[in-house]
Amino acid sequence: MKIDLFSDTNFGPTLEMRKAMYRAEVGNEVAGEDPTVNRLIERVCHLLGKEAGVFMPSGTMSNGVAYRVWCDRAGDRIFFDQYAHAANLVSGLPSGLVNATPINIKCTKGIFNTKQLELAIGNQKGYNIPRKRLVSIEQTTNLGGGAVWPLSILCAIYQVAKNHGMFVHIDGARLFNAVVFSKIPAREFCCYADSVLVDFSKGLGAPMGAVLCGSKDFIENAWYYKFQQGGTMHQVGILAAACIYALDNNIERLVDDHENAQLLAMSLDKHANIKINPEDVQTNIVIFQLYDTTCTAYQLVNYLIKNDIRLLALNEKKVRAIIHQGINKNDINIVSATIRYFLDKYNSSEYV
Ligand SMILES: Cc1ncc(COP(=O)(O)O)c(C=O)c1O
Repeated sequence: MKIDLFSDTNFGPTLEMRKAMYRAEVGNEVAGEDPTVNRLIERVCHLLGKEAGVFMPSGTMSNGVAYRVWCDRAGDRIFFDQYAHAANLVSGLPSGLVNATPINIKCTKGIFNTKQLELAIGNQKGYNIPRKRLVSIEQTTNLGGGAVWPLSILCAIYQVAKNHGMFVHIDGARLFNAVVFSKIPAREFCCYADSVLVDFSKGLGAPMGAVLCGSKDFIENAWYYKFQQGGTMHQVGILAAACIYALDNNIERLVDDHENAQLLAMSLDKHANIKINPEDVQTNIVIFQLYDTTCTAYQLVNYLIKNDIRLLALNEKKVRAIIHQGINKNDINIVSATIRYFLDKYNSSEYV
């Protein structure tokens, strides 16, 4: 695929990152003896302001393990935004793996407020009501279009969670996109969470790997479930080296992805059949709607595939594009021009 905007996981590792992997010192991760893994964990804990951390194969396993630690009674409720990745796109993870009850909160851009959270919590009491246990927040939101949770809302949500005796987990698959957009240090976001993961396989360009952080006690429990879910690794410093390389080289460059996403949004906004507000595009994800046309998102995406461009149709009318390191301004111009050309051609009846 020439221009792949399906996911920011569809890039890398670069030659320089591979060289860092080649040079990595390794040891047995599961025994805590991999020096590169240990160095990565130390760096991430410092950045996030957390006491302890553990290297994980993926963001999904980090979410699964964190939910399992917090939700230690079958049926415990986890509160998500209605489109949260972990609740909707990973094989029924909360109920299938954790035995938890996912509660989806309707909201815009994947960000809910305290009123919406309180409403979802409700005030039912009794032995038959599952425990309210965890609030899971995506920073940034994936299907919410890469929106960044403002610090003030995070702080307020954290207070509500605490008032109800609940924990807060941040799924920071794209936490550094939020950091770069807001210029707020990661640790400021993370002080409103009891556990947080950062993922290196998205815009940071590593082939895999995530770090899950929290208190020492939380991480001790996380190790138990990491074992149980098959997440222990050996001689894995080669992957941790890719993540350290990403921390050193790929955070600031996320600005380029955000600029390219903005460029795409502004260019698409000019077309009469596309609904998008460029101001809603804060980071590297662009979601637009087809409007006032019978053309469906599936037809558009199929046409793009034939032209070596890959986007994702989210439903009949909604399309998502995710920008990453492998995409430049010229690619953005080609994508935008191809989309506009197809819509014009479609509307002039050639496809009806
Ligand atoms: C918000 C969010 N969380 C978690 C994940 C899962 O990450 P991984 O692919 O590392 O399992 C994704 C993947 O796209 C995501 O978008």
